[in-house]
Amino acid sequence: MYTAPPIQCIPPVGAPRLPALFLLGAYVMPNLAVIGAQWGDEGKGKVVDLLAPHFSVVARYQGGPNAGHTVVFGGKSHALHHIPSGIFRDGVRNLVGAGTLVDPDALLGELAKLRDEGVPVESRLLLSARAHVIMPFHRDLDAALEGRLAGAAIGTTKRGIGPAYSAKSQRWGVRLADLETPDDVAARVEQALGAGLAQQLQALGAAAPDPRESARLAERWWAELGPLVGDVTEELHQAIADRRSILFEGAQGTMLDIDHGTYPFVTSSSTIAGGIPASLGVPPRAVETVVGVAKAYATRVGAGPFPTEDKGATGDQLREAGREYGTTTGRPRRCGWFDAVAMRYAVRVNGLDAITLTKFDVLTGLPTVKIATAYEIDGGRTTSVPPTVRAYDRVRPVYEELPGWSESLDGVRSLADLPRNARAYLARLEELSECPVGLLSVGADRAATVIPAGSVLERWSK
Ligand code: IMP
Repeated sequence: MYTAPPIQCIPPVGAPRLPALFLLGAYVMPNLAVIGAQWGDEGKGKVVDLLAPHFSVVARYQGGPNAGHTVVFGGKSHALHHIPSGIFRDGVRNLVGAGTLVDPDALLGELAKLRDEGVPVESRLLLSARAHVIMPFHRDLDAALEGRLAGAAIGTTKRGIGPAYSAKSQRWGVRLADLETPDDVAARVEQALGAGLAQQLQALGAAAPDPRESARLAERWWAELGPLVGDVTEELHQAIADRRSILFEGAQGTMLDIDHGTYPFVTSSSTIAGGIPASLGVPPRAVETVVGVAKAYATRVGAGPFPTEDKGATGDQLREAGREYGTTTGRPRRCGWFDAVAMRYAVRVNGLDAITLTKFDVLTGLPTVKIATAYEIDGGRTTSVPPTVRAYDRVRPVYEELPGWSESLDGVRSLADLPRNARAYLARLEELSECPVGLLSVGADRAATVIPAGSVLERWSK
């Protein structure tokens, strides 16, 4: 049964409507957003895991099991899909917000692995009652739609993301809270079938769900997940009122954003910082500092525009050195050079305070390193990203080529330890992106990290 959260505070009669302390608190909240600045897979998991001990709460705001966040510590790699990357840290609450999607069976598998590793998920995790559920037929629909698109397929993760977000927009989606009343789930599925879903499934050659079977699933899922479901928005509001710090965790990346990415080759949610307040139900000003995670080069999985892709030997070298294979699907990632045009766009769209640059060590050994400084299109030059795929097809990146370095970056713990050419590359990348690098990762392990003096992240690194 849904139980209303306890009353936290009722102001006395005659109290000022906006206490000064509350207003002050709202402006000095030590909150941080960590979002993807490229096409996903930038290494957000490592960054969030590293910073999580300095926060009371880690809140994931969009996406679902399409994400694959890797956290490496103690010589072991841990893959997360739904669960925020703060789950391994003692004393940190991990919240999965209203704007996310949950695939219950996939989540149960993820939870089982964490429990086996001794992670006390019950005390650390809360799922929003408002989050939407990926039903098995959403996965079937995803695969069937991709099949029909043939040469124009998006290259989705086939986790049912598009169909589940579509159901939400159609207003016939199933939310986690609905699982408590399986009859409502059956009725919702029935309603969707009657309103056109049945015809769509039939046209695509996919099986229609049996509403009673959906109800049985709901019952089983609620029995296992019910204790983890609650009012995430309320918990966030309480954290804000108490001025406990919140880390907002993004999934995918800016160029996969449903509105601002390389549409239609995007995911189905708002991956950008602006998605945080909408998806979590917190005021925009609660998102105090925003950092964008980017690789020192670029990768993309799935189809769609990728101007700096290198289809030759250098791309292969980056893929092998960077182990660029998907955490969720195992697919080889497309690899290429750092795109400062796309990065500057990400800096502006998200209002980035800093870039956290990952996998810098992967560039070691390349004779030269390239950065795209502009795009050439129809004989002219631009530093703006085009709005259509048709225009992207005509884009040729303009590169600046810098000397590489061969020295190993193992053991680099300050910028001064970097080889001279590596420092020059970093400085140029900052200049072209119009944003400082606030964290540099030179290896997968937590320790292989540099936070430069003066970085906005300094206050969370001590
Ligand atoms: P979907 O999110 O599964 O619908 O996939 C849409 C596009 O986003 C495809 O190009 C996917 O490869 C890409 N995508 C989705 N999730 C991720 C991610 O976590 N990392 C990188 N790409 C992703």
